[in-house]
Amino acid sequence: MRACAPLLAMALAACGDTEMPPPPLTEAESAALNPSDPRVAALYEGSCKACHTVKDAQAPLTGDLAAWNPRWAKGEDALLASAMGGIKGMPAGGQCFECTPEDLKALIRFMAGHEQ
Ligand code: HEC
Repeated sequence: MRACAPLLAMALAACGDTEMPPPPLTEAESAALNPSDPRVAALYEGSCKACHTVKDAQAPLTGDLAAWNPRWAKGEDALLASAMGGIKGMPAGGQCFECTPEDLKALIRFMAGHEQ
């Protein structure tokens, strides 16, 4: 019996690496994330964060890979286009009036979990 426990742990670890979909984030976990660049962090704090850490806003939560991965698969240019032009509940420019397209790209990469 004793030998089974480590084997089970290994099997579970293998599942976590490959088979399991990314776990959804809570609002609190999402709100705790911040861009590492202080300038991008200030832009985020003043705009995107208001919706993208609140489930009721119907926006994909920052850092929630389960929500972002299918969107990220559309490609960065498509995401930038919907951020600039708006999409459904998402207002054009994400209510960041001083954001340049490069800023929006950095914000999208951060929210989608592809900052590095
Ligand atoms: C007023 C609320 C609100 C704000 C502020 C906001 N968003 Fe969104 N965003 C949304 C909603 C709602 C969606 C989901 C739209 C949908 O149903 O596809 C969304 C979706 C997105 C998407 C995915 C688009 C796609 O094609 O799948 C991107 C990228 C995005 N937002 C970027 C940003 C950025 C960058 C900022 C800050 C500059 C921002 N958003 C600010 C509400 C907001």
